[in-house]
Amino acid sequence: MRIIFFGDVYGKAGREALLSSLPGLKDEFRPDFILANAENLADGKGLTEKTLYPLLQAGVHAVTGGNHLWDRAESLSYIANQNKIIKPRNYPEITPGNPYGVLENEGLKLGIISLCGQIYMPPCDNPFTSLQNFWDHQKDKEDIPIILDIHAESTSEKRALGWFADGKLAAVLGTHTHIQTADEEILPQGTAYITDIGMTGSHDSVIGVRKEIIVNKLISCIPSRYESSHLGLQVNAVFLELDNQGKACKIERIRRIIEGETNAE
Ligand SMILES: [Fe+2]
Ligand SMILES: [Fe+2]
Repeated sequence: MRIIFFGDVYGKAGREALLSSLPGLKDEFRPDFILANAENLADGKGLTEKTLYPLLQAGVHAVTGGNHLWDRAESLSYIANQNKIIKPRNYPEITPGNPYGVLENEGLKLGIISLCGQIYMPPCDNPFTSLQNFWDHQKDKEDIPIILDIHAESTSEKRALGWFADGKLAAVLGTHTHIQTADEEILPQGTAYITDIGMTGSHDSVIGVRKEIIVNKLISCIPSRYESSHLGLQVNAVFLELDNQGKACKIERIRRIIEGETNAE
């Protein structure tokens, strides 16, 4: 089974980077499943039906969220009813989103879950106990490979969760920091791991925001309105290959520069 997972797709720049690179990536990697983190899809703040629709049309099978998933009040009912949007499982039950996605394509099945970290993040339940509860509930059910998006700030928390999940999940893929890490590996019991996939969007930015705004804010300590950057489009993603037992046999970082720039939203 072959999978591409795009790191946090940020605003119009991210959508354009993903959509323009996808045909070439499909030719190169022949993925059975295409996944993306979409918590920043709508100008960095959550997602909307309008911003997600083109990705689903282009062949993205499901998207994960994160701490920004619910930033758009107008999207809450859409998130509640679109089962291709996977929410962090360790948020309250009443928070909209599907806590467990089961995807099917040409006889292949793949599970997808998401968890948020607790360190330097908004409050949520413990991701380790949440994963254990999921696993205790899931292990007697249909045996399909499952991928986890661990959406967290702390590298140690993500790394520890990777070890905790080794042998249980097909992959533990980090998101949220928007910076790709060069530590992809397959853990001893067959779980693919990377601390952060990185961001799909404007590379000439500070994690998606116009760089001048963040530099000035850090110099002056005066709050200012964030604006999405549209310069230096880049795709950050990973390619995974799973064997017939659902164990990972390959993880490869994808980091592609896209020509051109997008117009302001
Ligand atoms: Fe993000
Ligand atoms: Fe996030």
